Amino acid sequence: MKDISLIRADFPILSTSVYGKPLVYFDNAATTQKPLCVLETIQDVYTEYNANIHRGVHAISDRASEEYEKAREKVRSFLNAAHKEEIIFTSGTTGSINAVAFSFGERYISEGDEVVVSHLEHHSNIVPWQMLCERKKARLKVIPMNESGMLVLEEYYKLLSPRTKIVAVTQVSNALGTIQPVSEIISAAHSIGVPVLVDGAQGIQHGITDVQKLDCDFYVFSGHKIYGPAGTGVLYGKNKWLSELPPYQGGGDMVANVTFDKTTYNELPFRFEAGTTNFPGAIGLASALGYVDALGRENIAAREKELLGHAINILTGIPQLRIIGNNGSGISTISFLINGIHPYDTGMILDKLGVAVRTGAHCAQPVMDFYEIEGTVRASLCFYNTIEEINLLGTGIEQVIKMFS
Ligand code: ALA
Repeated sequence: MKDISLIRADFPILSTSVYGKPLVYFDNAATTQKPLCVLETIQDVYTEYNANIHRGVHAISDRASEEYEKAREKVRSFLNAAHKEEIIFTSGTTGSINAVAFSFGERYISEGDEVVVSHLEHHSNIVPWQMLCERKKARLKVIPMNESGMLVLEEYYKLLSPRTKIVAVTQVSNALGTIQPVSEIISAAHSIGVPVLVDGAQGIQHGITDVQKLDCDFYVFSGHKIYGPAGTGVLYGKNKWLSELPPYQGGGDMVANVTFDKTTYNELPFRFEAGTTNFPGAIGLASALGYVDALGRENIAAREKELLGHAINILTGIPQLRIIGNNGSGISTISFLINGIHPYDTGMILDKLGVAVRTGAHCAQPVMDFYEIEGTVRASLCFYNTIEEINLLGTGIEQVIKMFS
């Protein structure tokens, strides 16, 4: 892989300071920083060919449409989806899940049906399904988790029933960084003909996701968590499902013919992209995926594994610190607590030392309830972080402990 100093030079924000200290950015699970190529791509759109896609007959509209469709092809190949029309651009993971919950729900869910989610989900993979269940008088079933932050498969198998209509699970816990057995979850659901949505918001950026190999029915992720622009996202859906689902939103571009008597809808994928989409963002996202591919996804995973190993060593060497969930086999996200010190205080002091971490429930309140805690401190690392930065986190935590002792 490219030298770390060259990688860091690709991300201008990494050489900035906060409170006069070099920024140590350990909040990558919340959002990632953007390489210059992404910033330049977006600038190119706005300075060279900003025009509405799929609408104009003029040169720059053609160029914008062409780049947007190239971006769709880039996402297809990144996920190894079978068909380009299976890739829908959305506003993010939340937008993608809401679209499936609404459209799938309209078509397939009735009173008494069951939707399965898990105890480890981010709120965005709970609330849209709850709203659907309320609307349709269906029931939400929850796969339990254990102390190690893993889903309990034996209990999941017991939840599947003839009333189960869809399963929605996360690939990786955003709060804990633990990697979930989604292949097993998908196989079991498929054995009774039930489709599965995989929330890839915390999985896509840490390894290789091949949606055909995984055989998931829907896969969703956000652009901003994989070095792309905020307000972009992807909904992958198998053609056999997307072609059956009613559109989520009505508007321009998603229609074939509109009269006051009857409207007919456009073909896939446009049927699910009503209105003017964030096309500069989608083109920027493709640039981010290109950057990730150029570094090499195996290389990224290997580097992050090394960083995780070092972080676990440093943190387990602090006796007052308790890691919640990730024992080193997860992605490079670690949630922890320090005896007697509120996570918010730890986060505030680390911030003053230049170290950015996230504190709180991480939009995963049920996970916190499981451990009977209010929240954690979460340090989420990625390939552009360094061993020296992890050492700074360690000394920062020692300082926090000293201040409170
Ligand atoms: N979903 C983001 C996180 O886990 C915001 O931090």
